[in-house]
Amino acid sequence: MDWLKEMYEEHCAVLKISNLLAAYSKKLGEGREDQGKLDEILEMSHAFTELCHHGKEEKALFPAIVKHDKKLVAGLMKEHAKGKMLMQAVRDGTRDGKISAIRSYGALIRAHIVKENNFFNDCYEKLGDGECRALSAAFRRINSAVLGKGSGSDILCRVEKLEAAIEKM
Ligand SMILES: [Fe+2]
Ligand SMILES: [Fe+2]
Repeated sequence: MDWLKEMYEEHCAVLKISNLLAAYSKKLGEGREDQGKLDEILEMSHAFTELCHHGKEEKALFPAIVKHDKKLVAGLMKEHAKGKMLMQAVRDGTRDGKISAIRSYGALIRAHIVKENNFFNDCYEKLGDGECRALSAAFRRINSAVLGKGSGSDILCRVEKLEAAIEKM
């Protein structure tokens, strides 16, 4: 798949995982909890958002495009770290702490993705064919290392199932 399309599609999945957290947070606010469901969302966020998606950006895409805006890439890296810290607060926090961290994470990730989509789109025409091929190969390697035989569409199926399960909580 074309690298830009792959990033756009993954951003949709990252947002869906963040929306799952928001749905869970709403239930928490109503006094309902289910640690198993929260663990599943956190596991998905770690494997897909952090290891797979941010892994592709940090190990392959950012090094290829950093010359076009060093300051922006440094800011994006900081936001990845902040997101990771907020996920830790969702894991370890009190109920109010979890709710607040989920709200901050949602705002962070939405703004982050808008910035990335614009920047990646600007960089798209600037990469040569060789660089695009190298990116695709690096993305494939990261997919098989992190997701194994799974794929982005497996993540979307899991998100849908969890969405329905959280709705019933
Ligand atoms: Fe990112
Ligand atoms: Fe991204």
